[in-house]
Amino acid sequence: MTVTAAFPAFRPRRLRLTAGIRRMVQETTLRPADFIYPLFVRHGRDQRVPIKSMPGVAQLTVDRLADEAREIAGLGIPAVILFGIPAAKDAMGSDNYNPAGIVPQAIRAIKDAAPDLLVISDMCFCEYTDHGHCGIINLPGQAHYTPALPEGYLLNDPTLELLGRASIVHAQAGADIIAPSGMMDGMVAAIRGALDAAGYQHAAVMSYAVKYASGFYGPFRDAAESPPRFGDRSQYQMDPANRREALKEASLDVAEGADILMVKPALPYLDILAAVREAFNLPTAAYQVSGEYAMLHAAAANGWLDLRRCALESLTAIKRAGADMILTYFAKDAARWL
Ligand code: PBG
Repeated sequence: MTVTAAFPAFRPRRLRLTAGIRRMVQETTLRPADFIYPLFVRHGRDQRVPIKSMPGVAQLTVDRLADEAREIAGLGIPAVILFGIPAAKDAMGSDNYNPAGIVPQAIRAIKDAAPDLLVISDMCFCEYTDHGHCGIINLPGQAHYTPALPEGYLLNDPTLELLGRASIVHAQAGADIIAPSGMMDGMVAAIRGALDAAGYQHAAVMSYAVKYASGFYGPFRDAAESPPRFGDRSQYQMDPANRREALKEASLDVAEGADILMVKPALPYLDILAAVREAFNLPTAAYQVSGEYAMLHAAAANGWLDLRRCALESLTAIKRAGADMILTYFAKDAARWL
């Protein structure tokens, strides 16, 4: 007979004894309303094109969106985020600001089918430019060429103007929230200013405030057909090694009028997510990206992990770290599992 004095009177295991008591003391609870489901909308008709590296995820044509939107809304998921794959790409990414472009068409189709489903429009140019970069590139002979800047440099301010223009077009089509993801300096202010000037004061801005130059976006670039044709995105996306810079980026977006901040990717960056949530009194979103989804599926397909258990554990960890909402390809599965 032994340890009494030093043994703590409180025994944490008392509160783990049964499923009922564990449920009662659970601190973080996932619900379908936590999720935002990404949709890839492609040109063409009556097609569902599966993405090999993202099991269960597919590009859908606009005519397939009504059923999809009703299914998502029926699961209690409040919002979708849209990525467009246009029929033709060009140097300026003009499909993004064409009122008849792929995303404006998609927004209208979703709003017709499921008016209460929130539509977030991913605001970036990489899916629409022929070079695959997130804005206008500095090249001799092309618009906005600036000899003082390096060739191939992504031109910040001319890109801002197009982001503003495209945001108005998406808001006009019915987007509730514009989500700039290109990591241009000043993108939130440019979009806020453009929306306000055009009368869309009510459209919110969810900023990809802290977006790292991550290898985990690999499968997405298959899905969105958007890999850069030269170079990479490290001149505008953040270095994975940096944390102070994340807080700086987020504070700029707050000052520029962001309504919601996002951190991306999610699971490898929980420290950043927690720091951003702590530092700013704004709703904070986390994006569980394509590579995070693909890893879990690949391991599960080999019988190495239990998909449902590990997906829900990951989503719980992301929420526990501070996410008020999670963009995730697991949204529909998780809503069914919960
Ligand atoms: C840019 C954008 C990307 C993702 C979301 N928005 C790709 C990139 O920055 O290269 C990645 C999302 C994912 O990997 O799931 N429009």
